[in-house]
Amino acid sequence: MNVIAQHMSAVKQSAASSVAAVAAELVRQGHDVIRLSAGEPDFATPDHVQLAGIRAIIEGKTKYPPIPGILPLREAICRKLERDNGLKYGPEQIIAGAGCKQVIYNALGVTLDPGDEVVIPAPYFGCYVDQTTLNRGVPVVVETTQANGFRLMPEQLEAAITPRTKWLILNAPNNPSGAVYRPEDLKAVAEVLRRHPQVWLLSDDIYEHLIYEGAVFHSILEFAPDLAERTLVVNGFSKTYSMTGWRLGYGAGPVGLIKNMVKLQSQSTSGACSISQWAAVAALEGDHGFVAKNRAVFQQRRDLVVAKVNAIEGLFCLSPEGAFYVFVSCAGLLGRSTPEGKVLETEADVVEFLLHQAHVAVIHGASFGLSPFFRISFAAKTEQLEEACRRIAEACSRLT
Ligand SMILES: Cc1ncc(COP(=O)(O)O)c(C=O)c1O
Repeated sequence: MNVIAQHMSAVKQSAASSVAAVAAELVRQGHDVIRLSAGEPDFATPDHVQLAGIRAIIEGKTKYPPIPGILPLREAICRKLERDNGLKYGPEQIIAGAGCKQVIYNALGVTLDPGDEVVIPAPYFGCYVDQTTLNRGVPVVVETTQANGFRLMPEQLEAAITPRTKWLILNAPNNPSGAVYRPEDLKAVAEVLRRHPQVWLLSDDIYEHLIYEGAVFHSILEFAPDLAERTLVVNGFSKTYSMTGWRLGYGAGPVGLIKNMVKLQSQSTSGACSISQWAAVAALEGDHGFVAKNRAVFQQRRDLVVAKVNAIEGLFCLSPEGAFYVFVSCAGLLGRSTPEGKVLETEADVVEFLLHQAHVAVIHGASFGLSPFFRISFAAKTEQLEEACRRIAEACSRLT
């Protein structure tokens, strides 16, 4: 008898981890693969944050932490939300978890009854869909378009909502498109949500500080404070502070929701790593000079990749306003043949072609719910990005 629950057949392994495994195998075989598949900054965790972690260990702050997070961290998060976003929360409205992923999982876990729907604009961060499925909910995917800058249009949202809708998940700057919502976009989304009081909003703001040139990050709650009573703001340390391995994220929301998320976490992983929490306090309260420096580096890399990709016949991308990904349309390559005579019929064929012929690992758009695209992460050294683009151009020039 199969021991695995039936609904697991609808759950996918995270695409980034699957591609990483294939690329690692190619590297093991001796191929020089440039990996542009990971969603993590190539910078080190800032020194003062590292030191705070070391200090926490030396000072013996290594016991079970409180389930929602240590009070100094929750207080620091409240100060951050007020300082950066003008939002007022108390520590009882905050939960820290092992990454944003766990916080999102907690939220869906305590709110979804079987059959409840979650509206997810595509392209999306894959875990929204699979975590919904894992929690017996129904993902309702709404495809945005490149023409609309990959932003959810209010009429699309209106059409997707039903009496079973529990959540809308918004993520901007977006992984993988880099889309940033302007004030008028957020006001329009809020207007739709006001008409549907059963719908909660999960706002994943993890790329808040990775935003370029004229773009500005706004929390939807700046324009719609009335929605705070049914909004969960999710944020974390992985991207801004290059702390992917420390596994720390947080949620801010109404007390009743947070209490239940704490209850769930108390029966799953308990409090997040105490050392990471003390380091995170230093991250939030310490010098933020590195943020602007990292942002400037990312912006140069973005401009490089966008220019090189758009110079390749058959590929097209918008210049992302935030995050560190370029979401490339490969519609222009479909139907072409490789030198071995294989026709590129789907984006998956394109991605495989790039991996095996150009030795560049990228992630196919279907794992973000939108085809035919692929995602390039520009969180890599400039020389690697230049070489990767050169290889992609060269491989594409061999297509007929
Ligand atoms: C939009 C988005 N949210 C959340 C996460 C996960 O963050 P964490 O490392 O805090 O679990 C990612 C990571 O790629 C992401 O792109």
